[in-house]
Amino acid sequence: MEIIDLSEGTRIDYFTCLEEWSEEMKDGVCRKECWYNGMREKGLRVKLARNDSGTVAGMIQYAPIEHSWVEGKNLYFVYCIWVHGHKKGRGDLRKHGFGTALLQAAEDDVKRLQSNGLVVWGVILPFYMHAGWFKKHGYSKVDRNGIRVLLWKRFSDEADRPRWIRAKKKPELVPGKVVVTALAYGWCSGINGMLERAKKIYIEFGDKVIFREIYMSNREAIREWGISDGLFVDERNIYKGPPLSYNKIKEIIGKKVRKL
Ligand SMILES: CC(C)(COP(=O)(O)OP(=O)(O)OC[C@H]1O[C@@H](n2cnc3c(N)ncnc32)[C@H](O)[C@@H]1OP(=O)(O)O)[C@@H](O)C(=O)NCCC(=O)NCCS
Repeated sequence: MEIIDLSEGTRIDYFTCLEEWSEEMKDGVCRKECWYNGMREKGLRVKLARNDSGTVAGMIQYAPIEHSWVEGKNLYFVYCIWVHGHKKGRGDLRKHGFGTALLQAAEDDVKRLQSNGLVVWGVILPFYMHAGWFKKHGYSKVDRNGIRVLLWKRFSDEADRPRWIRAKKKPELVPGKVVVTALAYGWCSGINGMLERAKKIYIEFGDKVIFREIYMSNREAIREWGISDGLFVDERNIYKGPPLSYNKIKEIIGKKVRKL
C-alpha cells in the first residue's frame, strides 16, 4: 500500500469519490471539480491510498479550517475520509488499514504545515463518518450538535478549540408556490448529485415550484445559514442522511405541490 498525492491520472477517482460505477455520483462531478479548483488555492489537500495492484482504495480531503463550515483558527479540517466499501466497482476495501494510513498521512502533513491540530467531524451512529473510529485514533470530542460530533487532535498547546456553527436561517416562503432551496457547498459529489437532481425535477412541476440555489463556499453564507449543505422544500431540510434519489426528491416535492 502507498499514500499518494492527487495527480491528473487519479482526479477522476477523487471527483467520483471512487464510485465511477455510480450514475448518481456522476451527477455531482462537475460541481466537485469546480469546488476543487477554487479550494486548491485556499490550501485544500487531498491524499489517496493505493493498494499493491495500483487501485485507489481510499481518500482524505482537508483544508484550513477557516474555509470550512466550522469555527476555528490555525487548524486543518477534514471534510471527509472515505475507503471504498461497496461490492460494486473496486469492491469493499475497508479493514485493510487504508483509513488508518490516510489519517496518519494527513496528520503528518498538517504537522509539517505547522498547523496547531487536525479537526474531524463524525456522527455518533456506527456508520458513515463514525466518531468512534476517530476516538480510537486518539481524537477527542470538542463540540456536539445533535448526532454530529466535532473531534480534534492537538499538535500545540496554543490550539484554540474549534466549534460548530449552528443552523439559523430558513428559506423564505412564497405564497402559492413550493420553494426548493439548494445550499450548495461543493465538497461532496454525492450531495452535489442530489442538488443536480433537484434542479432537474423542479422544472417538471412548471411554475408551481421555485428553485433557489445558494452558494455556501464562503464564510458569510455559512454564518448566515449555519449549515453548509441542504436541500429545503419550503422550510424543511429534506437532506438528513444519505443523498436522496431522483424518485424520493420528486415524491417529496410532488406531495407539497398537491397540497397547494
Ligand atoms: C472509517 C473508515 C475511513 C475506516 O477505513 P478502513 O480502511 O476500514 O480503516 P482501517 O482498516 O484502518 O481500520 C478499520 C478496522 O480494520 C482493522 N484492520 C486494519 N487493517 C487490517 C487488516 N490488514 N486486516 C484486518 N483488519 C484490519 C482495524 O483494526 C480497524 O478495526 P476497528 O474496526 O476495530 O477499528 C471507513 O470505514 C469508511 O470510509 N467509512 C465511511 C466513512 C464515510 O462515510 N465517509 C464519507 C463521508 S462523506
